[in-house]
Amino acid sequence: MADLFAGVTTSHVPAIGAALDNGKTAEPYWAPLFKGYEPTKAWFAKMKPDVAILVYNDHACAFSPDVVPTFAIGCADEFLPADEGWGARPVPVVKGDPEFASHIAQSVILDEFDFTIINNMTVDHGLTVPMSLMFGQPKEWPCRVVPIAVNVTQYPFPTGRRCYALGQAIRRAVETYEKDLRVVIMGTGGMSHQIHGPRAGLINSDFDARFLDNLTADPAALVAMPHLEYMREAGAESVELIMWLIMRGALDDAVEEIYRFYHVAASNTAVGHIILENKRSAVRA
Ligand code: DHB
Ligand code: FE
Repeated sequence: MADLFAGVTTSHVPAIGAALDNGKTAEPYWAPLFKGYEPTKAWFAKMKPDVAILVYNDHACAFSPDVVPTFAIGCADEFLPADEGWGARPVPVVKGDPEFASHIAQSVILDEFDFTIINNMTVDHGLTVPMSLMFGQPKEWPCRVVPIAVNVTQYPFPTGRRCYALGQAIRRAVETYEKDLRVVIMGTGGMSHQIHGPRAGLINSDFDARFLDNLTADPAALVAMPHLEYMREAGAESVELIMWLIMRGALDDAVEEIYRFYHVAASNTAVGHIILENKRSAVRA
């Protein structure tokens, strides 16, 4: 059976991808950030997931503003990189898992969460920057990816509670997949994050620390938080953090926090990262 053994969250700041792609990781500005992901890369190398369910948001690359799905699942064989700003990153093609993705789509939709099914799409920094932070710069990515895109760019967004419940539905889907797969789920985006207007660069490290604490120990304290509270406290784009609640909803109540990293600043944002393992998992280190 498939085993969803862990959840990982990380920010996806596009400048991190540009630093990697342009050989700037050793520069004083960037070195502490990349050092913070070394234990993560070692953890992934040891745990060797077969598939990552990667929850992220598209930034008007795959989906133009003409069509904005609330929740979408990528069921294609592969996903080509594309991007705003710096352009498509020179990273490997992202390999999908159409059979597993279709199983998740069927289970979750019949469980009354209406995913949009995507059979052909590109993936932007929201997905590829987390991949680079987890796996470095390999010739091929070491695991397949089921992309799940969430609308956090055009209001109305799904609520935190809805995101958490979607995570629970994804967990039920994984638990009914009969192939032996080692599965990790990733929630991306966040943390403190305001990239426009007079409050650009706003960082609220207290908010971020509380969010990380509660993500591990008391996610129920986070699911009721309205979008406005994220935006007021930690900047407009901090609302990307609702995607982390999908990751958390897919895990057990009882998790062990394996690793946490927090760093200010990368571009205009605070970078946050956490690794949680289900305590019961058969494949724990
Ligand atoms: C920045 C961060 C993001 O998450 C994003 O999608 C675009 C820009 C930034 O900090 O520059
Ligand atoms: Fe973003």
